[in-house]
Amino acid sequence: MSRLVVVSNRIAVPTGRRTPPGGLAVAVLAALKEYGGIWFGWSGEVKGQPDADVEIISKGNTTYAMVDLAAQDHNDYYNGFCNSVLWPLCHYRPQYIEYNRAEWAAYKRVNDMFARKLLPMLQPDDLIWVHDYHLFALAQQLRKLKVRNRIGFFLHIPFPAWGLWRSLPCYKELLSFICEYDLIGFQTNDDLIAFHNCVKFGLEVDSDEEGTMVKDGHRLRAKVFPIGIDVKSVSTTARQSRRSATRKRLIGSLQRRKLIVGIDRLDYSKGLLTRFHAYERLFELYPNQLRKCVFLQVAPESRKDVEAYHDIRRELEEASGHINGRFADFDWAPIRYLNRSFARGILMGILRAAQVGLVTPLRDGMNLVAKEYVAAQNPRNPGVLVLSRLAGASRELSEGAVMVNPLDLDEVAEGLETALNMPRDERVHRWRLMIKILRQNDIRAWRVQFVNSLRESAA
Ligand code: G6P
Repeated sequence: MSRLVVVSNRIAVPTGRRTPPGGLAVAVLAALKEYGGIWFGWSGEVKGQPDADVEIISKGNTTYAMVDLAAQDHNDYYNGFCNSVLWPLCHYRPQYIEYNRAEWAAYKRVNDMFARKLLPMLQPDDLIWVHDYHLFALAQQLRKLKVRNRIGFFLHIPFPAWGLWRSLPCYKELLSFICEYDLIGFQTNDDLIAFHNCVKFGLEVDSDEEGTMVKDGHRLRAKVFPIGIDVKSVSTTARQSRRSATRKRLIGSLQRRKLIVGIDRLDYSKGLLTRFHAYERLFELYPNQLRKCVFLQVAPESRKDVEAYHDIRRELEEASGHINGRFADFDWAPIRYLNRSFARGILMGILRAAQVGLVTPLRDGMNLVAKEYVAAQNPRNPGVLVLSRLAGASRELSEGAVMVNPLDLDEVAEGLETALNMPRDERVHRWRLMIKILRQNDIRAWRVQFVNSLRESAA
């Protein structure tokens, strides 16, 4: 059986202490846990010299192979082209795009460095599975080094519409790099359609009914593989947290009030500020909710060196201060805003303790927290998910969740009111609809379907 070689910008060696940032690391860790293999990527360290050695750590059935990034590359590739161009582009936030040619060159340079460092570790029948927007150009760099293995790519974030993609000065070159993969996977059909349109209009290449495109004699297949979670592991971890002191402290502090929870990286795509405003709107529209609920937002800091992220922290501190100043009482503060990360066990326990999961990104590839919230619930007395229509997860969960447009504060406030008052029978009914889908499309199904499709694709 072929080995699986996973490549992503950030890798997460499991320590149990901190939760890796973002859904990618959570999903890849869960996928590798069962299958084993190699996970290659950036160590998270920034060191002076480019071309550092690869550091290897073996844990269980997985080998973690890591490279450091030189300070210049960290700045131009990671902070620059990845997170100041591609991230805002793919999340439909063109106002945050800051393009320059040096950063585009750094993007290609780091993709080339990854390819060269990975090369000696590869065996001829390895399946190479590359993840996310940092590495759109990796297949092209590997092919230049005569790597003939099958190479698949999965995009964890949205793929933008053609009208937006073409605003990227290097859109044509980048698109032709993506076409060097054998298989490309997207979270939703919207992303797949957007990609087909970009290839059609940008490269004048059509796709057949099965999503296959042929460019310069090379066959690329594009398909949808909605990412899932390890339902059993989330539910067990959440259940076990009953005994944890932290969860007891949290529940004790609520004094029987209902808990609304949000857990997100501190990122403008997550719609946190509008979420805070919508929570404020709840008390304006439904003053009966005053003193009856508490909103806990956990938002660990992210990408602090990127300009577009500088203001968010201050804005949220101001908004939470304002809401508490406006509504709080001697013995009640409506909002608790925690600007740090927690161990996964604690987070799953918080999700289980909450009567409402509030997930309202302005745009999101999937949003695994939405899925984790559902899996963490007590089946006999589950909470309600209030979910943005603009999250990829809405494709699977729209029947069970209370769906809202995050830009419509009144609609989010109404959604919260509905969720806070929902009778148990309806909560159980909605939860069953959602958990059924999560069990079908779990992390194992995602991994098996992608790997099987990659295996079937042309070498
Ligand atoms: C999202 C992206 C991942 C990324 C994660 C954390 O989930 O899809 O590729 O790793 O955010 O962001 P960071 O920049 O800290 O790696």
